[in-house]
Order: sequence, then structure tokens, then C-alpha cells
Amino acid sequence: MKSYITTPIYYVNGSPHIGHAFTSVMADILKRNRQALGCDVMLSTGVDEHGQKNQEAAAELGMGYQEFLDMRGKEFRSVFDLVGISYDYFVRTSREGHKQAVAGMEQTIFDKDLIVKKNYTGTYCKGCEEFKKESDLTEDGQCPLHPTMQVEQTEETNYFLKMEPFRERLLQHIADNPDFVQPEAFRNELKQMLAEPLEDLCISRPKSRVTLGVDLPFDPDFVTYVWFDALTNYLTNIDWPEDGYQSWWAECEHLIGKDILKPHGVYWPIMLMAAGLPLPKKLSVHSHWVGAGGVKMSKSIGNVVDPIEVVEKLGVDALRWYLARHMRADSDSQISVELITQTYNSELGNKIGNLLSRVAKFSNKNFGGKVPAPGPLSAEDEALRKSVVEAASGFSRWIDLQDIPARTQAIVTLAEEMNEYIDKQAPWTLFKSEDTRERCQTVIYVTLDCLRVIMEALQQVIPGSADKALAMLNAPAAPRPWTPVLDRLEGNGDLGEIESLFPRVQ
Ligand code: ME8
Ligand code: MG
Repeated sequence: MKSYITTPIYYVNGSPHIGHAFTSVMADILKRNRQALGCDVMLSTGVDEHGQKNQEAAAELGMGYQEFLDMRGKEFRSVFDLVGISYDYFVRTSREGHKQAVAGMEQTIFDKDLIVKKNYTGTYCKGCEEFKKESDLTEDGQCPLHPTMQVEQTEETNYFLKMEPFRERLLQHIADNPDFVQPEAFRNELKQMLAEPLEDLCISRPKSRVTLGVDLPFDPDFVTYVWFDALTNYLTNIDWPEDGYQSWWAECEHLIGKDILKPHGVYWPIMLMAAGLPLPKKLSVHSHWVGAGGVKMSKSIGNVVDPIEVVEKLGVDALRWYLARHMRADSDSQISVELITQTYNSELGNKIGNLLSRVAKFSNKNFGGKVPAPGPLSAEDEALRKSVVEAASGFSRWIDLQDIPARTQAIVTLAEEMNEYIDKQAPWTLFKSEDTRERCQTVIYVTLDCLRVIMEALQQVIPGSADKALAMLNAPAAPRPWTPVLDRLEGNGDLGEIESLFPRVQ
């Protein structure tokens, strides 16, 4: 089975921030999950290099376009490498093949008489790269998503895609495929957007205003609207229109933030319908990370958490863990370096890492660097092992974007149960007497083997630390497709070198 996971392609007008890292890390977790299930996975992430906003950012730095785009492309790519995104394809919309395919799609739609040229007066938000209706703006006439950027009044001649002929069909598709937009709150929001007749979508910009873009194939005085160009990446990444893209496209799932629901939920499906192409399988939408006080983080406001700073201070898995565990499904969630530090210390450090190093060090010291061989299991051992299989099996099942926090939370709850188990069993006391030595061996074996199962599950979320832990346990390679199987740690097998997994940070 195949799975094609996409992230948005991010504007390069500023440096990558935590929001960009977030969607790409979630995509990476889903990729690792589906690979563990035996799927053939393709993951794309990358940058959106065209449009007015990027053009002006290059000008502000006094850089030529190519030089600017190369610099930012490298910057985004290196942050995605730093946070461990196992992307198969890094998107750059300045690629020649992409640009040709975008022009091809436009020509196809133009030839069907679905594109008209007309004069238009409207209010434009550069932050969104979208024309806005009066009802989209705040009371003082600004874009709610980009309050520090002035909206602009523009009057110009442009090309427009007819949208209304497709509205009913799109609504029907949403009704017939409840999984098309997840979760439900955003499906409802999209239905709301489609409740009224749709205005034509402006798909061009005159070169007098924007030159950083793809030339319109049927009028060289214009470039393509950046959203039309950017959305098409989802097809060009898999070599559309060359044959062979179909089997990936049929399994395509877009991960997006709620800020770009309209382009993905309205423009993109209608562009595809206009071009005579099937719709993607699914749109998975998440809410936003906000800074202190609940203010949306954005490059234009400047209250961003820097992913590089977090990784340098706490390590990549502290960041990945916080992002996976603490995004709420129903509303925006807060993030700051302090919150990430606290979670790292309390969940990864105190609950998971300490348990592993405590038990592994004990075993190393008292059982000659080996995993002790277990004797008969008690009811308490069996109960713990059952909980481990239950919690870990959340990772041997398909994970959707909105499932990630609960599946990782289940591991924290389990770690709490394991800590209680070890405190109650007190192997350090059991070890002291010959009579209870075998019981001690069993408790240590059960704990180490359960930790192995947990770490195999966590390879999907914090692969670096999980691999390190599995090396300490000298665990055999996990089978594929993966399921939580007990007793794969060898009794009397050697332990690896024991180090601290999540050293405490102040
Ligand atoms: O919209 N919390 O690019 P963009 C969570 N180029 N996620 C966030 C976030 C936050 N505070 N801020 C940003 C564009 N994101 C277009 C996309 S796709 C064909 C073109 C993430 O740089 C989230 O995924 O503004 C959001 O949808 C995306 O970055 C917007 O990135
Ligand atoms: Mg944005």
C-alpha cells in the first residue's frame, strides 16, 4: 500500500519558525508510522518561492531573486534536516519542470473556457497573498491574520478562474466523503465557505506589480497567481503530468494549518475539477501554536519560537516531543522555550529516561552487564505487560494527524504506571536476599523488555532517542510490519553502553 503525505510549502520571506517545523515534524511522524505498518511512503515538504511577499523580501535585503531564493531554500532545508524530517522530496517552485507543469495546467483550463479576463477592484493582503472581502477584514479594515501589514487597494486587469460552476459538486464530494476534511470542525468551516455563491478566483498578476512567478502561457504580460502555482506542487512533486503519478496521487493526504483552509479546501479542489483531475484523498487540518498571551506567532509579528535555539538548548527530541504531545485538537495551543523545557524534564526525563537509566544501570552493575533471565511471571508483571501492549499498539495502527497527541499521551500514562510498578516491586530490596534474587531478575527483565517495546513505538516520534535507548538495551532490530511483541529481549543477553537519555536542563 502507498501513502503520499504533503506539508504546505512555506513562504521564504522570513526564516523558518516553529509553525513550519511543526507541520513538517507531524508529517514525518505519520511517515514513520505508515512505514512501520508496511506502507510505501512518499513525503514532500519545501518552499513556496514566488509571489509579491517573497519578491519584496528579496528587494528589502537588496538581493537578486536567485541568490535570495537559494539562501532561503538552504535555510529551510537545513532546519528540516535539523529536526529530523525524513522528506523524500524537497519542493522548490522555481524548478523548471514545476513551472512548465503549472503553465500546462493553466493552458488546459484556459482551453476549456473557464478562465476570463476582466477589470477588478479589490482589497489585497500581501501576507495571505489573497484578495479579501470586506467581511474578511477587522473593524479597522485590516487582515486579522496579518494585522501589522497594511492591506492594499488594487485596481487592475487580470485573469479569473470561474469557481461557481464547481461549488455544488465540491459540496457533494464533501458530503459523500466525510474523511475528505478532518477534523469535523474544519469540515464545517469549509462547508460554510461554500454556502454562498463563489466569486471568480483571480489567477494572475500583472508584471507591472509582480515578476517573481510563472509566466501565464496565454499572456506574457502576466505571471501566475502564487497560490495557483504553489498548490500545483502537490502534483508536480510526483512528476505529473508524466505517467506514474496516479498511484501516489490516489493516496495523497495534505497536512495544513487552519490559516490555509480556503486555498486547500476551495481553490485547489476546484482547480483540479477544472483541469479534469481527481481530488486528493484527504485534508488534515491543525490549529495554531500561539505565544504567551495567546497571540498568534507569525513572522510579521515577531513573537516566534526559534526551532534552532530549542534544538541547541534541549535537543531535537525535546522539540519533537512537545510538538507531538501538546497540540490541542479543538483550539490553539501555547508554546514557549519554558514550556518545552518543563515538558522535556518532567515527561521525557523524569518519567521515561530516568526509569530506563535506573534499571539498566542496576542490571549492568548487579547482573554483570547483562539482561537477567526471568523466572515465572506474577499477576502484576502480566498486568503491566498488558498495559504496555495496549499503549504501544497505538503505534501499530494507522495514525492520523489529530491522533498524535493522544497516542503519545498514552505512552506517558504508561510510563507513570511503570514507575509505580518498579517502586512497588523494589528490585533493589529483592536483590539483597538469595531467596528473592530470582524475583528480582524477573522484575528487571520485565521492565527492560517493556521499555524496549515503548522505545520501538517511540521510534515513530523521537527516533534519535529511541534508537539510542534500543542500543543501550542491545535490542534486536524491530520486525516490519511492526507490532508490540513481548519477550524479544534476550535473557542473559549483553546490555549496551548505558548513558543518560534525557539529561536534565535548567
Ligand atoms: O501559507 N502554528 O506559507 P506560510 C502552527 N506558502 N502551524 C503554523 C503556524 C503556527 N503558529 N504558523 C505557520 C503559506 N504554520 C503558503 C502555503 S501550500 C501550497 C502554500 C504552518 O509560510 C502551518 O502549516 O504562511 C501553516 O498552514 C503554514 O505553516 C503556513 O506557512
Ligand atoms: Mg502565512
